[in-house]
Amino acid sequence: MRVLIVGCGYVGLPLGAELVKQGHEVFGLRRSAEGEAELIAVGLKPLVADITRPEDFVKLPGPFDWVVNTVSSSKGGEEEYRQVYLEGTRHLIDWLAPTTIKKFVYTSSTSVYGQTDGSLVKESSPTEPASATSRVLVETEKLLLDAAQARNFPAVILRVAGIYGPERGHLFQQYLRDEARIAGKGDRILNMIHRDDLVTAIITALKSGRPGEVYNASDDESVTQLHFFKWLSEVLGKWMPPFATEEENAGRKRGLTNKKISNRKLKMELGVPLKYPTFRQGYTAEMLVLDRAGRLDIKPEPR
Ligand SMILES: NC(=O)c1ccc[n+]([C@@H]2O[C@H](COP(=O)([O-])OP(=O)(O)OC[C@H]3O[C@@H](n4cnc5c(N)ncnc54)[C@H](OP(=O)(O)O)[C@@H]3O)[C@@H](O)[C@H]2O)c1
Repeated sequence: MRVLIVGCGYVGLPLGAELVKQGHEVFGLRRSAEGEAELIAVGLKPLVADITRPEDFVKLPGPFDWVVNTVSSSKGGEEEYRQVYLEGTRHLIDWLAPTTIKKFVYTSSTSVYGQTDGSLVKESSPTEPASATSRVLVETEKLLLDAAQARNFPAVILRVAGIYGPERGHLFQQYLRDEARIAGKGDRILNMIHRDDLVTAIITALKSGRPGEVYNASDDESVTQLHFFKWLSEVLGKWMPPFATEEENAGRKRGLTNKKISNRKLKMELGVPLKYPTFRQGYTAEMLVLDRAGRLDIKPEPR
């Protein structure tokens, strides 16, 4: 297949590398030529364009069989989200819809679920997030689902949980740096997916995802923050992080959600095999790599 990966960052780059390994012709798009060498090194053909500027598409080669939108606004506020996710996706649809594209996969986020009651959410659960940025993601999904219905645009949406893997995993990194704090009573639920498994999920969605469908991309086990730190603490022989102060808790991001993500549809319908079914296997693998590289410098602490 001729594949275009729009946004070749933490996920897009290894995704491209894997697709190349599987024998596909893969183009990787970014906003600047700076990272070209990185793309070429793994066999991707670099393209430069900014998806917020539709005029940039004119110069791009086509057509493509598969397109993946893994662009990220790299944090940013509501307006940046609107430009990058909503308008960027709109421009991509307008550019690609008249072509012979076979599949378009978009990596949305489980932050579209606004539930705060710790309930199990599946793809049919309401998506009414309190945060303005997450509402932009809901709008972006709607744009794609409408295009799938009205224009036969072969869009498949993956709602991705917190991505971790090499050099990523916010709480884990903070814990290693002794900067982690247990928020509240530690009962907020974490939903995660290892980057390797997300790459597999995207490729499976390209091959067999049904256009107009949404799939949660999360691993098999949601875990509370407290239990996550307890597990790390036991494995690494390192103290638990302290509880956050009242002041720190008060400063916590508003609109924080609390829910368990069901991955049943991803597994049952797409049959995605998870290499790291839970954070235990995934982080064990990451810790082994760090340890072998001499980067897990933890002295056993007295209990
Ligand atoms: N991180 C998470 O835990 C998480 C959770 C749920 C969903 N997601 C989603 O997962 C996807 C992959 O995230 P990631 O961590 O791989 O992101 P990332 O590392 O920040 O990479 C994003 C890529 O998008 C490119 N990009 C940004 N704005 C662009 C624009 N206007 N036009 C063209 N390219 C643009 C960037 O390239 P240049 O900067 O070089 O232009 C970069 O290559 C994103 O869709 C993200 O929203 C992430």
